[in-house]
Parts: sequence; structure tokens; C-alpha cells
Amino acid sequence: MKNRVQALVGAQWGDEGKGRVVDVLARNVDVIVRYQGGANAGHTVIADGKKHVFHLLPSGMLYPNRVCIIGNGVVIDPAQLKSEVDDLSPPPSEIGSRLVISRGAHIVMPYHKKLDVLSEAARSKNSSPIGTTGRGIGPCYVDKFNRVGIRAEDLASPTVLERKLRLNLEEKNPILERVYGEAPADFDEIYATAVEWGEFIAPYLGDSTFEIDSAIRGGKGVLFEGAQGTLLDVDHGTYPFVTSSSCVSGGCCIGGALGPGRIDRVIGVVKAYCTRVGEGPFPTEDRGDIGERLRRSGAEYGATTGRPRRCGWLDLVALDYSVRVNGLDVIALTKLDVLSGLDEIKVCAAYRLGGDAAGATKIFPNSAEKLARAIPEYRTLPSWKEDISGCRRFDDLPRAARDYVGFIEESSSVKVGLIGVGPDREDTIVRDF
Ligand code: IMP
Repeated sequence: MKNRVQALVGAQWGDEGKGRVVDVLARNVDVIVRYQGGANAGHTVIADGKKHVFHLLPSGMLYPNRVCIIGNGVVIDPAQLKSEVDDLSPPPSEIGSRLVISRGAHIVMPYHKKLDVLSEAARSKNSSPIGTTGRGIGPCYVDKFNRVGIRAEDLASPTVLERKLRLNLEEKNPILERVYGEAPADFDEIYATAVEWGEFIAPYLGDSTFEIDSAIRGGKGVLFEGAQGTLLDVDHGTYPFVTSSSCVSGGCCIGGALGPGRIDRVIGVVKAYCTRVGEGPFPTEDRGDIGERLRRSGAEYGATTGRPRRCGWLDLVALDYSVRVNGLDVIALTKLDVLSGLDEIKVCAAYRLGGDAAGATKIFPNSAEKLARAIPEYRTLPSWKEDISGCRRFDDLPRAARDYVGFIEESSSVKVGLIGVGPDREDTIVRDF
């Protein structure tokens, strides 16, 4: 089988509909690995009319017999994970053999969430908010890289947990009290909760590096499932308006323990238009009727925070950048149906960065300041009025929709292998995927 090892990434600002695509791919893979981010992500999958929202569990859990791995690059909120596991059917006892949590994954502690919310409020006062999800992601990764973080394995080892927690609170409590004027975090309370988390998590702890390697050696299909999106990557996104992990395809090598040469194919999930939640530059954002229309038809409200997403036309300059930094081999285009019924469709084909005299560029400036000044140059494409949700073959699509897909392929030099035409799992056109 070709493409045994695949990495799937969001090619925009997250919320591209990755969960849906993973769900389609999961039919043909044996192991699904999450490798970065935490409960800031929200993957919505509609299966058999039932809506599932996963924040931490890989969406592959919906398929029996698939092994799902939470890699070392993920930051875990154990209470959130427990509620997702408890919600699954079949019951958790059957899940034991197919959920593996890396011992090296870091744990989001209550003080991380508190510090996330407090520092976001402080930034807001200085008119420079990031618009984080408040899930403690940034502070947890700070501790990881500062080498004081609490890892999943520590939860199951009370003496280590006690030592590390005391060390952390010695540092965090003065910050909570003196910087933010808050009450200190209570050791006994957090310790008791963390011991309970340890009891829950212990049966799932494993060596993800070994699991992944043996799956690949055994000829199994392995899918690395990215969260958030390329433009939210801590290095390659619109810094500082980014999340704190490596969302690009290369992130799976670190957060999922994979040698780069083992990746057979990188899939980029691209929404047929653009959205962004939180702050930061977004050149094609439409604050008027079009943005509102896309938000309504596309149900563009955050799966994690419920915030309305900012909406706008597809940005081919940003997509070109995403193709480069991820090495995309194929595109999964989602939500094409949301564009049905518009009078015309626009795509951003270039930016003007320095006023008219400077000319247009097709090169994405990976600087938030420059991007904030980018003025999009649009191409207007013909629209279609038909409902396309019943289309199952590419040729069933109206001419203008096929041309839209063709335009994306030509501009990005990447084939569109899968197209989402409606909210249900079956509303998908699988071309060459
Ligand atoms: P954090 O990841 O909570 O620190 O938030 C940092 C930025 O990433 C904010 O702008 C969030 O809105 C954005 N973000 C985080 N997770 C997601 C996601 O899953 N989808 C879209 N945006 C996200």
C-alpha cells in the first residue's frame, strides 16, 4: 500500500475541517497520532447524524479497532480527556487497548489555565491581546521548555508528582500573588486532583515511540493528525498571534516521534474560504455582508470557545506559503458547499504590501506587522447556484465549482484529492486520495 505514513495538517488558521478528513482517512489507517496542541483544538465530526466534538482524543476513536496515540508533543488536560473518554461508546473498558498516551506528554495544570487567562487579560489592558482559548496551552509549553513541566508519567508516580508540584508552586504562587494580586494555588487541592488524574491516566500510559515504530515496521497505516493550522504555528505562523506548538507537518517528527524520511505523504486541509479566531492579521477578512454570509452558512463558531470566527475569501498567497512550509503533496478542500449561491466568488491572488508603487507580491510575508499592511488583490471567479451537497463525483459538480477547484490546483501546484460538499461524513467527493 502506498502512503502508509501520512501527516495531515491545517493549511490556514485552523478550523479547516481536519476532523472530517481524518474521519474519512481513518477507514484505511490502523493508527492515528495527535502530535501537538491540546484542548485548544476542537474537532467536530458528524457521524450517523450524531455530532462529536473532540478536543484531545484523535477523531479516529470513532472507528473500532483503530489505535489512537496522544504523542509526547501534546499537552493534556486530564479532566477534559476523561470527559471525552467517558462520552465514548463502546465503554471505556474496551478503549484500554486502543488508546495510548505518551508518558512524555505534558499536563496542563490548573495554574496554567489561570495564568493563561490572567496574562491574556493583562495583554488586553495593553491593547495587545492574542485571543487565546484560555486552556492553559501557552503556560504549559513554557514550563515544558523551561524543564519544570509535569509529564503524564509523573501523575502516576506520587512522590515525583509531589516534588515537582511543590517546585512549581514555589515559582507560580509569587507570580499569582504579586504580579496578578490573586490567591495562591493550593498544593493539597491540586495534588489530590492530580493523583486522581493519575489513576485515570495510568492504564493508558505507554511508549508512543515504540508503538509508532512497530506499527510502521509492521506495514500498518499510520496517520499523524495535526491540530490548529500552519498560520498558527509558533515558528511559521503570524507570530505572536499564534499558538505555542508546531502545527506544521515537521511537528509530527518531534511531537509524534517520527524520522522525517518515513513520511510518505503530507495532506493539507484547506477550507474553500478563510476563517480565523482570536487576534492577528487576516488580509482577506470581510467584516461586511460576505463575512456574515460565510459565517452563517459555514456555521463558523469556535468548537472550543463558541466565539464567532472571522471570515473572508480564500487567500492563495497564504496557501502557497503553506504548501512550501509543509511540503504539501495533496489538498483536501473542505466546505465547498458554503460558497454555493453567492453572486460571485473572489480569491486573493497577490498582496500589495507597500502602497501601489511597490507592486504586488505573491510571497507571504511571515511577519505579522507586514501582513497587517497587506492589501489583497482579488480575482473574481464565476459562482454557482446549485446545491452541491448531493454530489459524489467530481463531474457531478457544476462547471463553476470544478473551475474553482481547478484554479486552486493551478495556483498552488497541488492536486485537490478530496472535496467536502456538506456537513455529513458522507458528503465528500473522493478523487485521487
Ligand atoms: P492558544 O492556543 O489557546 O494559546 O491560542 C492562541 C491562538 O490560537 C488564538 O488566536 C486562538 O484563537 C488560536 N487557536 C488555538 N487553537 C485553535 C484551534 O483549534 N482553531 C483555531 N484557532 C485556534
